[in-house]
Amino acid sequence: MYRILKAEKVADKIFLMVVEAPRVAEYCQPGQFLIVRNDEKGERIPLTICDYDRERKTVTIVFQIVGASTLMMSMLKAGDCFHDVVGPLGLASEFITDPIEEVRKRRYLFVAGGVGAAPVYPQVKWMHENGIDCDVIVGAKTKDLILLEEEMSRVAGNLYITTDDGSYKRKGMVTQVIQDLYDEGKRYDVCVAIGPMIMMKFVCLLTEKLGLPTIVSMNPIMVDGTGMCGACRVSVGGKTKFACVDGPEFDGHQIDWTQAMERQQLYRTEEGRAMLAAQEGATHHGGCGQCGGDR
Ligand code: NAD
Ligand code: FES
Repeated sequence: MYRILKAEKVADKIFLMVVEAPRVAEYCQPGQFLIVRNDEKGERIPLTICDYDRERKTVTIVFQIVGASTLMMSMLKAGDCFHDVVGPLGLASEFITDPIEEVRKRRYLFVAGGVGAAPVYPQVKWMHENGIDCDVIVGAKTKDLILLEEEMSRVAGNLYITTDDGSYKRKGMVTQVIQDLYDEGKRYDVCVAIGPMIMMKFVCLLTEKLGLPTIVSMNPIMVDGTGMCGACRVSVGGKTKFACVDGPEFDGHQIDWTQAMERQQLYRTEEGRAMLAAQEGATHHGGCGQCGGDR
């Protein structure tokens, strides 16, 4: 059992929890994720790791209520336990394994949209701990949905906050801020963009024009999280990749966004899942016969 030490509502339908998970806390790196289950028969819920404390053996997760399982999660309080916390899963961000001298030479721009601020934070924190100042854009629909502003301001070189409705700081979407920074003469070597798929797609369309290589973190439907079921497939540069083991981070300019967004929509209905099963044959998730598949 994995005890929840802190449970806090940070915005409408968005919750932050600090959870005792010694193994994940010891080995996780920025870019990786974990899977939690509320109880033995519960749905596996993949969540990006927002922070970790190796000494206290805790991880911090931030999640949004999007369905029954996350609604149940939101009702848990400090002192309650998760049945499982599995991880760390997926690959760490590329800069973790690149030679640090190379990473130090690059100018990074991080772009976080909405709940995407949670996975961006540990990456910017890692940069800060390694003496690298990065520019960070955090965007949300409105002031109350800006997450981790204080934490981010402690680790970012420059922090640009924007709201779609202009209720706080700049007005406009994150893409507008990227364009503004370029118009002001700023230049970067790498952009890391994490948020809703539509945001990552539009950031990539813009950065392609600007000639700015861009990494995105994909969060498609996941089931087992171990590369066995095929649920999380993403087409990258014409090749099928599984976000849970080959990602979740990929070259955003190589992603087939149309397919990724269609797949996310189709998975929402039984009819759509049946269509995917027909299209994908034995490689469709559920092909292993073990995980319960779409049922
Ligand atoms: P949101 O819809 O409030 O969007 C956040 C910001 O993204 C906006 O303020 C805007 O600046 C930008 N954005 C949105 N649409 C855009 C567009 N068309 N062009 C340019 N910029 C745009 O975000 P939310 O409600 O927090 O998003 C929730 C979604 O994010 C969920 O579907 C969740 O699964 C996903 N998510 C993804 C990750 C990940 O790892 N990629 C992590 C957490 C959440
Ligand atoms: Fe990635 Fe099953 S969740 S292969």
